[in-house]
Formats: sequence, C-alpha cells, structure tokens
Amino acid sequence: MKQYFATVARGLETLVAQELEQLGAHEVEPGFCGASFKGDRTLLYRVNLWARLPFRILVKLQEFPCLDTQDLYNGIQTIDWSEYLNPDSTLAVNATGKSDRLNHTHFTALQVKKAIVEQQQEQFGDRSNVETQDPDLRINVHIDRDVCTVSLDSSGNSLHRRGYRPVMGAAPLKESLAAALIQLSSWQPEQMFYDPLCGSGTLPLEASLKALNIAPGLFRERFGFETWLDFDLTLLEELIEAAKNSQKDALPAPIWGSDKDEKAIENAIANATSCGVLDRVWFSQMDLSEVVAPADSGVLFCNPPYGERLGRDSDLGAFYKLLGDVLKQRFKGWTAFVLSGNKELALCIGLKSSQRTAVFNGTLPCQLMKYDLY
Ligand SMILES: C[S@@+](CC[C@H](N)C(=O)[O-])C[C@H]1O[C@@H](n2cnc3c(N)ncnc32)[C@H](O)[C@@H]1O
Repeated sequence: MKQYFATVARGLETLVAQELEQLGAHEVEPGFCGASFKGDRTLLYRVNLWARLPFRILVKLQEFPCLDTQDLYNGIQTIDWSEYLNPDSTLAVNATGKSDRLNHTHFTALQVKKAIVEQQQEQFGDRSNVETQDPDLRINVHIDRDVCTVSLDSSGNSLHRRGYRPVMGAAPLKESLAAALIQLSSWQPEQMFYDPLCGSGTLPLEASLKALNIAPGLFRERFGFETWLDFDLTLLEELIEAAKNSQKDALPAPIWGSDKDEKAIENAIANATSCGVLDRVWFSQMDLSEVVAPADSGVLFCNPPYGERLGRDSDLGAFYKLLGDVLKQRFKGWTAFVLSGNKELALCIGLKSSQRTAVFNGTLPCQLMKYDLY
C-alpha cells in the first residue's frame, strides 16, 4: 500500500477524512490542511475521480531530515527518478513550507529540480525540461521543522476546478468549498435545496452532483497521473465506466437557485448545461425581496456578499437585515445555512444561529451559520 495525502482547505480536515474513509481509504489521519491515508492504485484513481472536498492527492515518495541546501540536494538524489521520469517527459516542482535555512520556496524548488536533472544527466546524458503549466510529472516538496517530504501530485490541476464551470460570476465559491458546506449541513437529497443568492450556481450544482451521484472528476480533461510512466488506462476507464453507470436519473427533491442578476443566472444555466443537469435543476432571476419558500420545508443555503470581494457599501447591513426578515417570515419549517466572512454583517440578520462552523474561503476566515426556522 502507498501513503497518500489529500490536501484540503483549512478547517475541513476531519470532513475530508470522513470522505476518504467512505471511498475505501485505509489508516486515514487528519493532519494540517489535509488528511493522510493508505491504499493501492485503484484507490488513488477512485479518490481523484470521486472526492468532492480535496484540492490534490499527493503520493508520498520519501521523507528525510533536511537542515540546508546540501541535505535537500542529497535527499532528492537518493530517489531513483528514472522510475517516474524519462528525459523526454516534462516536470514541475512545487515547494511549500520552510525552515531556518530553506526559507524561500522558489529557491527550494530550484534546488530540487537541479538535483533531479543532474541525476538524469548522469544516467542518460539528457534531462527533462521544466513545464510549469502542464507538466508530465508535478513534484511536491514540503519542508516542515527540518524534515523534507517529497511527493508526486497525482491530480494535476486542483480538483476543485471540476471543469464544468466555464463561466463564473463576481465572487464564486470554489466547487470544493461548496461541496464541503453541503456536507457540513447534513443536507440529504430527499430535502428541497434552495439558494436565493446563487450567483453562478455553485451550491445548487454541487448539491445536484451529489444527489445524482455524479462523480465530480468526470468533467476533467485529465488527471496528473495520466502522464505517469505507470499509468493504467484500463483501470481508469473501468472506474469511469462504473461511475457513469452509478449515476441516478432523477432528483428525489427539487434543487433551485435564484439571483437578482440576469448575467449570474445566464452563467448558472451555462454551468448546469456543461455538467449535464440543466433539465433537473431550476434557476430563475429574482430579487431576494420577492423570494418566497417554494415548499413547506427544505434547506436554504447562501453566501451573501460580505464586502470582501463584492462592493463594500453601507447598504450591506440593510441587505443582511432583509435576508433575516425573509428567512424569519417566509421560510418557517426550513433550515437555513448562511456563509459569512463578516461577523458584524452576520449580526444584522437578527436571528439566533443554532450552530456555527468556522471555515476558510481561500484565506478569508468565515462562519457557516445554521438557523432553524420555526
Ligand atoms: C457572493 S455571490 C454568490 C456566489 C455564488 N455562491 C457562486 O458560487 O457563484 C452573492 C450573490 O448575491 C446576489 N445578490 C446580491 N443582492 C441580491 C438581491 N437583492 N437579490 C438577489 N440576489 C442578490 C449577487 O448577484 C451575487 O450573485
């Protein structure tokens, strides 16, 4: 079994550990901004195809003590890179973390690259070229407290970029964060789902992918591991086939999004089309002030503007009050989840939350507030 690490947004470590266990991972341990786990190649491909929360799945190659540049160079050279890389394949090195003497990630990455290509030169008289955008092999090096961990990035582009969202609005949620919020809420597909501030539709679309059991990786052009020397095309094709066969045709309960902005609704419709669920998800243009509950009960989700990326105007306080009034007066019997990155604005909602969960939206600390409306 190999050792893997799924990277995730801060605060979602326990949640991603649960997701990995459900996908069949062994020895799952939540860590900082991710979770480690063990498994075989089938698991690696399955997690890349099915996991909704992680950014990347790293395959650990080596861990060694590393105080300085020389230790780094020597440690990298103990790995036989010919197992992973031909001189005609391209590479990229991504470095994170630092120590006293290795405190520039760019320099660390350069040093790693130097150690690899010098080994190739010695072995083959030829070396790989660096290709930062779309390399055949992406190497991840992490320095933490004088220990260097070397991994291969099996995902390639971050998994949160599902590939179904060609158009985005002003402040879209990352798909993986939307999926995490839905997971945190314990929403079940049998409950109606409604986002009255849906923007480009990320929350309703992620809810529909979950409800229809559509693997989020099906929309990707390719995974990082597809250009590895040990790539097993038959295995990936089998997993993709199985994923397609396990999709459900119909939603058990309606999923709906609305927004006041015509362009946002056009984007949401384009995104729903691109992930093949337009015939099952509803999007309509509507101002929050006109919104009424489309059923007696259900789960309402939204991430209202909070001034960080969308206009910092004083009207936002009134807008949050309106949101609170709409929830209180028109959504009795529902449960609402509101993501906010601004505590003062959140107070303007004027409702007592029954639960608050800290999450990060990028680098912005936010809270997912739960309101039981009765
Ligand atoms: C932070 S964005 C939501 C982003 C969305 N979750 C996504 O992933 O694309 C907030 C949304 O609220 C919408 N909005 C602002 N004021 C509104 C109002 N009065 N009625 C309805 N929608 C409104 C904006 O058009 C914007 O799309």
